[in-house]
Amino acid sequence: MHSILQRGNSILAYALSVLACLTFICFASTVLLNYVTDAKMNTVKVVVKNVPDYSASRERNDLGFLTFDLTTNLTGLFNWNVKQLFLYLTAEYKTENNELNQVVLWDKIILRGENAVLDFKNMNTKYYFWDDGNGLIANKNITLTLSYNIIPNAGLLPNIFAKGRHSFKFPMEYTTTRM
Ligand SMILES: *[C@@H]1O[C@H](CO)[C@@H](O)[C@H](O)[C@H]1NC(C)=O
Ligand SMILES: *[C@@H]1O[C@H](CO)[C@@H](O)[C@H](O)[C@H]1NC(C)=O
Repeated sequence: MHSILQRGNSILAYALSVLACLTFICFASTVLLNYVTDAKMNTVKVVVKNVPDYSASRERNDLGFLTFDLTTNLTGLFNWNVKQLFLYLTAEYKTENNELNQVVLWDKIILRGENAVLDFKNMNTKYYFWDDGNGLIANKNITLTLSYNIIPNAGLLPNIFAKGRHSFKFPMEYTTTRM
């Protein structure tokens, strides 16, 4: 009786350590791969409006609108430890109020097995490009970057930035017409 219990116990312990070991190998075999990839971005249409921000203080803040092209091949990022990719496009810029502003404009999930060769033209952003003041009008350096989180089967992988960047400027004047 006693020895059966003990035996069951040691089988369980053994099974658990094998499992932990496999998980570790799965993680270790992929953690050192180079996940950096190239991305080409371009902005097509860029305008800025000055509108009341009802979600904040009702003051008139800058709201940017842009459409963009994005080309990248993420096929090489998928290996047996990659379950899905979460990609997002961020705009970074400097204003008088803040040294660094970061706004996520668009995102997308790509599951393993889905087409990972992206060639988007003239895409609209998914999220509003609000500035918390008037930092967009005439801003000469807004930088778009593509980043992705790799969601693995085991382990943790860092947040990666694709190599391509694209900088653009906002116009000197507000657009008042509807778009
Ligand atoms: C995308 O990358 C994969 C592997 O890195 C390559 O085999 C494939 O040909 C590429 N596809 C395109 C359209 O560039
Ligand atoms: C534009 O901003 C990016 C970072 O947001 C910086 O790396 C780059 O040097 C800036 N370019 C110019 C021309 O100021």
